[in-house]
Amino acid sequence: MHYRLIAPKTAYCLLILSFVAFSKSSSAQDGKALFQSNCASCHNPVRVVIGPALKGVTDRVPDNKLLHSWIKNNQTVLKSGNKYFTDLYNQYSKVPMNTFPGLTDPDIDAILKYVNSYTVATPGNNGTPTATESDSTLLYGILTIILAVIMLTLLQVNSNLKKLSDDKEGIPSAEPIPFYRNKAYITLLILVLFVIGGYFLVEGAIGLGRNKGYQPVQPIFYSHKVHAGTNQISCLYCHGGAWESKQASVPSLNICMNCHAAINEYKGDKIYREDGSEVNGTEEIQKLYSYTGYDPKSGKYTQAGRPIEWIKIHNLPDYVFFSHAQHIRAGKVQCQTCHGPIQQMSEVRQFADLSMSWCVNCHRTTKVDFPDSAGNTGNKFYNIYEKFHKELKPGDSITVEKIGGTECQKCHY
Ligand code: HEC
Ligand code: HEC
Ligand code: HEC
Ligand code: HEC
Ligand code: HEC
Ligand code: HEC
Repeated sequence: MHYRLIAPKTAYCLLILSFVAFSKSSSAQDGKALFQSNCASCHNPVRVVIGPALKGVTDRVPDNKLLHSWIKNNQTVLKSGNKYFTDLYNQYSKVPMNTFPGLTDPDIDAILKYVNSYTVATPGNNGTPTATESDSTLLYGILTIILAVIMLTLLQVNSNLKKLSDDKEGIPSAEPIPFYRNKAYITLLILVLFVIGGYFLVEGAIGLGRNKGYQPVQPIFYSHKVHAGTNQISCLYCHGGAWESKQASVPSLNICMNCHAAINEYKGDKIYREDGSEVNGTEEIQKLYSYTGYDPKSGKYTQAGRPIEWIKIHNLPDYVFFSHAQHIRAGKVQCQTCHGPIQQMSEVRQFADLSMSWCVNCHRTTKVDFPDSAGNTGNKFYNIYEKFHKELKPGDSITVEKIGGTECQKCHY
């Protein structure tokens, strides 16, 4: 029977087709992943964040080599006195961009390709990046289903015709089996459902306990935009623990009172909650006083204080070791790279998903900051690596992965 052979063959073709569809989308993903782990804290493809919107930057800076050297090390480009970038730098109030010596040319091309192909899918998606490649996966999926339906219909027609012609020639043959009773199809269907079901089950299980975007309502409406943004208070003034230790820790009330013993009114720009309702800043400062037991009229602490029960937003599972000092002091990673543009958030929202692949991807692409030839800056702890460093060809770099940043026991107790 001829058509019996067609069925498995077509199934193979479909399988291969869907693999091609998925692998295509995962290679386009690289640029997106690199963009999100390195650039998204300051850039959005289509919106100004801290830096300019990047879509179409290849048209603004047609010199590809110059653009690459800017992204790798903008400081050298600025020192060379390039007019376009000096103007841009002044226009963005001299906010420096990070340097990315660890990014290779193909990495940068992938990032540029991603930002240029970026489209906003729906207006209501809060600007969460949704790129074209996810749409094409859907397209391939729909195409696959349509092809499968056509295939089934054709096979059915084929077997009916065969039956007719057999009958005509008087060859005895069995009734064709409709496809919903055909064992081969049923097995195939079960297999497909099993694979899809398994995929979602595993995805869901891994996602348990992950809270990207988590933004609880805090007991006091304390705005980072007002403090770290408008009033330019350094992150380390309140989160000094991040420089010294594992924990960044949330400041205790006496730190708030250093300023708020004097500042008892809010007179700044209007502030809003996520739902659009306006916040009365002065009332929120009064709440602070009720926690500390401070009486602004007499300027004395009249009642016993009690701590504010801030809701913790970022939470790694207990089996993961993470140290802020290692990243900020030794690694020179900016807070915003991991926490997003906090200085623009009225209410803190979890920016990264804190997944293992998030940590590991950054360790694979970030270069370790060694002391320079004069021995001034950089992480002296790894001086023993300097010898190897010098033996490397110029242009080669040592990523965190090479110093063991992807070894299981570094992150897992
Ligand atoms: C700490 C924030 C920050 C990060 C992280 C950052 N940038 Fe920037 N970027 C800026 C700022 C600010 C400017 C504007 C120029 C200036 O002030 O230095 C800029 C400018 C640029 C420009 C020039 C844009 C134009 O319109 O000509 C490009 C290209 C660029 N960034 C690419 C990147 C890429 C790619 C990454 C990630 C690998 C990245 N940036 C990461 C802040 C950042
Ligand atoms: C004036 C003090 C102050 C300054 C300055 C400040 N913060 Fe905060 N931060 C707080 C307080 C209080 C909380 C807890 C309430 C909340 O989550 O909004 C907090 C919470 C956070 C959280 C969430 C912690 C969690 O629960 O997971 C992050 C992340 C954070 N701050 C980062 C920053 C960064 C980055 C900067 C600098 C741009 C900064 N903070 C500047 C006081 C401060
Ligand atoms: C270094 C000084 C400083 C510290 C420390 C500080 N604040 Fe403020 N705070 C300010 C300034 C400045 C304003 C804005 C006043 C204005 O614009 O009228 C402000 C405004 C506020 C407001 C009203 C606006 C808003 O964000 O809702 C609240 C509430 C507030 N602070 C709470 C806190 C709490 C809680 C802490 C401790 C975690 C704290 N502040 C620590 C300086 C400080
Ligand atoms: C390499 C990524 C990374 C950088 C850089 C980083 N953080 Fe964090 N931060 C995290 C992670 C991961 C957690 C969750 C830690 C946990 O649950 O044990 C966290 C938690 C926090 C918390 C919650 C309290 C705590 O200590 O668990 C605060 C506040 C905070 N970070 C502030 C900062 C500030 C301020 C900076 C810059 C000085 C900064 N972070 C830089 C990744 C980072
Ligand atoms: C934005 C990039 C970035 C992210 C995200 C990041 N790291 Fe790192 N990490 C670094 C850098 C850079 C260093 C090297 C610091 C140094 O010079 O010692 C480092 C070093 C480390 C080390 C020490 C490695 C060693 O060999 O000594 C540990 C442990 C670590 N990170 C854990 C984590 C964990 C856990 C997470 C996720 C929750 C994470 N990191 C996320 C950039 C990152
Ligand atoms: C750079 C830090 C880092 C390194 C290196 C690392 N892990 Fe993880 N791992 C994490 C973080 C963070 C989580 C928590 C993920 C979450 O909550 O979703 C995690 C979670 C896990 C889990 C729980 C399953 C899950 O995804 O939630 C397992 C199992 C695991 N890691 C095994 C390993 C093994 C095996 C290695 C060595 C090949 C390794 N890890 C290396 C950071 C790391």
